[in-house]
Amino acid sequence: MTAEPILTISGLNVDYGTGPTGVHALRDVDLTLHRGEVLGLAGESGSGKSTLAYAVTRLLSPPGVITGGDVHYHRPGAGPVDILSLSPDALRAFRWQELSIVFQGAMNSLNPVHTVHSQLTDVLKAHRPAMRSAERTARAEELLTLVGISRDRLTAYPHQLSGGMRQRVMIAMALALEPEIVIMDEPTTALDVVMQRQILRQLVRLREQLSFSVVFITHDISLLIEFSDRIAIMYGGRIVEQAGASEIYRDPRHPYSEGLLHSFPALHGPRRELTGIPGTPPHLSAMPAGCAFHPRCGKAHDPCADQIPVLARPEAGQDREVACWLHTRPA
Ligand SMILES: Nc1ncnc2c1ncn2[C@@H]1O[C@H](COP(=O)(O)OP(=O)(O)OP(=O)(O)O)[C@@H](O)[C@H]1O
Ligand SMILES: [Mg+2]
Repeated sequence: MTAEPILTISGLNVDYGTGPTGVHALRDVDLTLHRGEVLGLAGESGSGKSTLAYAVTRLLSPPGVITGGDVHYHRPGAGPVDILSLSPDALRAFRWQELSIVFQGAMNSLNPVHTVHSQLTDVLKAHRPAMRSAERTARAEELLTLVGISRDRLTAYPHQLSGGMRQRVMIAMALALEPEIVIMDEPTTALDVVMQRQILRQLVRLREQLSFSVVFITHDISLLIEFSDRIAIMYGGRIVEQAGASEIYRDPRHPYSEGLLHSFPALHGPRRELTGIPGTPPHLSAMPAGCAFHPRCGKAHDPCADQIPVLARPEAGQDREVACWLHTRPA
């Protein structure tokens, strides 16, 4: 795989609200998605995963505001596009065609009074006005087949489909215009484990076939280990560690990453003791000083309670970054 970036996020800050009641939901987020890779984003509920997805697609609604940072899309064969300053028209063209997103709980957002056919062809109608009706239907059939649903289900209404099928329809819709990037926010969390894996396996196959890049968000790190190339772990609105999926699995460096790994059963290899993480994630309005994780961390020491560790490479030349005073020295 090439290390060519397709989406770069740097120093991204997001607040909910302004003034004294405003809270910081994302802090100094740096993240790069490379062409063709599956980048997993993990972290407990409230760590800011969905906020990040909404911010980079400019879908954040009030009181959410981007207060700093940059997001650039590197269009194949062209210069970088500054997403945060795209005009509304350019943004509409960018979404679906270049980047699409499958939202958390998306399978319940299909319109109950329209058939699968009408919902799939609507996306095509809006963005491919020159396409003829028969072509749109053919493309809708092709998309359904792509996600493993028989084409005769095109005339079905959402309630006639299982949860897994509805979720596949959402994925088909996200792929309709052959985007370069697909962001999936907890795409399978509402489904049973077998169905989750079936869908994700299929997604990885499609990615090989159609060569798009994926940001895959879930709180279930065991799924990420299995399906991602690289994993970024969030805590309290910051990225606390990022590395290759197998590096994170074999040798997590941040005590929070280690805690997450011990919160889910291992799929392969030796069994790990499930110890979980003591305590609960912090509220945005009461973020601990220093490293936000320090009150829950068994390895917290001197600088942790009052100095925020920055994301840094513990070993030069390696594609791993950790924000933890166990691995970097205070200045
Ligand atoms: N509209 C809003 N107004 C105020 N705070 C919000 C709003 N939306 C989200 N938040 C807060 O921002 C933080 C991050 O939320 P976000 O939904 O991004 O987390 P998440 O990691 O996606 O969690 P989950 O795993 O539950 O989906 C949370 O503390 C949440 O309460
Ligand atoms: Mg979320």
